Amino acid sequence: MQPPHLLLFLFLPILLPGMWADPEEPQVIQYLLTSLFANISSAEVSCVALVGDIAIFTLDPADWSIHFHWPWVSQAAAEDDGEKMMSQYKIALRNMIRFVHDTVQQTKQHYPLVVQFRAGCVLYPNTTSQGFLNVGWDGRDLVAFEVDKQGWEAQQSSQMAELVSKSLNRQKSLRILLEHLLSIWVCQSNFLTLKRYGKEILE
Ligand SMILES: *[C@@H]1O[C@H](CO)[C@@H](O)[C@H](O)[C@H]1NC(C)=O
Ligand SMILES: *[C@@H]1O[C@H](CO)[C@@H](O)[C@H](O)[C@H]1NC(C)=O
Repeated sequence: MQPPHLLLFLFLPILLPGMWADPEEPQVIQYLLTSLFANISSAEVSCVALVGDIAIFTLDPADWSIHFHWPWVSQAAAEDDGEKMMSQYKIALRNMIRFVHDTVQQTKQHYPLVVQFRAGCVLYPNTTSQGFLNVGWDGRDLVAFEVDKQGWEAQQSSQMAELVSKSLNRQKSLRILLEHLLSIWVCQSNFLTLKRYGKEILE
């Protein structure tokens, strides 16, 4: 048995049921990823996905396997592009880790450091939705992906934020993929499928 992960403790106070009964409130699905880079050869990644206040799955930092917290979440994950996502996320994590290590070298940052990702979608009562992806570096906002502009923007005035946003903006296929993932996949199919399978618990 894996010990419950630290990240889960951080979120425990908000994991209590009771959530989005209020139709006037925006609904949020978010993926919170924390990665600790102890040195040039190490990266520990943990992730929790939340719908409203409910944790739906976590990523095991030991082997990157996904632990679904509810049977309906694994059912929902098998639908739409869910299976394709599941086969791709480890590649994405490896690319992310390589990118962070490269950035540390280029900008002469120091280990240890923590990089955090917050991605997801807000669904407003008027049925419009907004995808988001924010990246934090050692506790400060670094860059954010602007879905409407299909591009990255620096969130602080530093050489590193400029370099990271420029370097990410050069990857056109990544920008197109993210725009699709955030506005179409997360905001529409992912969110709606989860709501359908998890109706009783989420409402
Ligand atoms: C890098 O950090 C990991 C995790 O703390 C540790 O196990 C490993 O020995 C470190 N490696 C080096 C080369 O310092
Ligand atoms: C829907 O609500 C959000 C949040 O209040 C607002 O930003 C957005 O402009 C609204 N969209 C429409 C089409 O009314």
